[in-house]
Amino acid sequence: SESRKKSVRVWCDGCFDIVHFGHANALRQAKALGDYLIVGVHTDEEISKHKGPPVFSEQERYKMVRGIKWIDEVIEAAPYVTTIETLDKYDCDFCVHGDDISVGADGVDTYHLVKKCGRYKEISRTAGVSTTDLVGRMLLMTRGHFSRGDREYYVEKERSSSMGLDAQARSPYTGCSQFLPTTQKIIQFSEGKEPKPTDKIVYVAGAFDLFHVGHLDFLEKARQEGDFLIVGLHTDLEVNQYKGSNYPIMNLHERVLSVLACKYVSEVVIGAPYSVTFDLMKHFRVDLVCHGMTTLKNDTNGVNPYAVPKRLGKFKLLDSCNTMTTEKIVERIIRNRLEF
Ligand code: CTP
Ligand code: C5P
Repeated sequence: SESRKKSVRVWCDGCFDIVHFGHANALRQAKALGDYLIVGVHTDEEISKHKGPPVFSEQERYKMVRGIKWIDEVIEAAPYVTTIETLDKYDCDFCVHGDDISVGADGVDTYHLVKKCGRYKEISRTAGVSTTDLVGRMLLMTRGHFSRGDREYYVEKERSSSMGLDAQARSPYTGCSQFLPTTQKIIQFSEGKEPKPTDKIVYVAGAFDLFHVGHLDFLEKARQEGDFLIVGLHTDLEVNQYKGSNYPIMNLHERVLSVLACKYVSEVVIGAPYSVTFDLMKHFRVDLVCHGMTTLKNDTNGVNPYAVPKRLGKFKLLDSCNTMTTEKIVERIIRNRLEF
């Protein structure tokens, strides 16, 4: 007899170019509508045909989607228009998409077929974040760049008195985030798990601005070093002080959600000190502190931020084998823009 209820298989598809926490939130909600979540990601060729070339390659986009914790499976090269045949092929009950209208190059709703058959469910889009919005923030970086004619992405910035400290969603530097962060969203994204007494606890810290494949590869390596991975995020003020220009592109709250959506991350410290202190290590029972091969600035007192864990023999340099950086993404966007 069929005593066990058949598990509900959910299908979701998209471009997932410049993966952000809005995408992650969509996938979180999709997963909650069933038991098993399959995500179809379109190829570069297919995206180029329908809405112009993506910023990230399909290999990068596949990897980023695989890094999101609510996903069970990624289907590469999913067709742009979602058909009943696709849902049946992967034994999915229905398809889930955000409540925005999605049209192909021919102007037809890409979900009209699944909608007609009642195999479509809608979730509400996360307001205040989109690929277009992020590209806009990155292009803000270029204004001064062109008028000054030098190599720096410089732009006049208005200094806010409460930079990175208050809950206003704006990045003080790019000043255009409309996302309204709530503790509810953090709870939804959080694992909510504590480390077991026997767990080896790994700690890493950084900006993790515009969470990208380089970060993902690094966090995968860091997670392999232990059982419980804690990621410390520097405040907006801190990041701006060492990165300059208009960085960070994403404010602290947004960076928290992006990092929490990553399947390798167990916990996030919201506003971690630049230098890893003895107290921090003791408080979180940190066994190992890691950092990637990217260049590192000394703290304002001239001391290496990892001096303490190094002295304790609890520091390890990891090679993510990935050279992606936030700056390279900004360069790609600018280059793409110049081509049009
Ligand atoms: N999505 C969402 N909230 C956002 C952005 C996207 O819920 N702020 C959802 C979309 O509705 C879709 C899924 O994420 O169901 C993947 O969509 P994709 O095609 O990658 O996204 P776009 O709609 O193009 O989003 P963006 O403009 O940010 O690229
Ligand atoms: O630059 P950011 O502070 O965001 O980096 C966070 C961590 O990710 C650092 O330890 C950095 O060395 C690592 N990283 C990496 N490979 C990349 C990008 C970042 O190992 N391509």
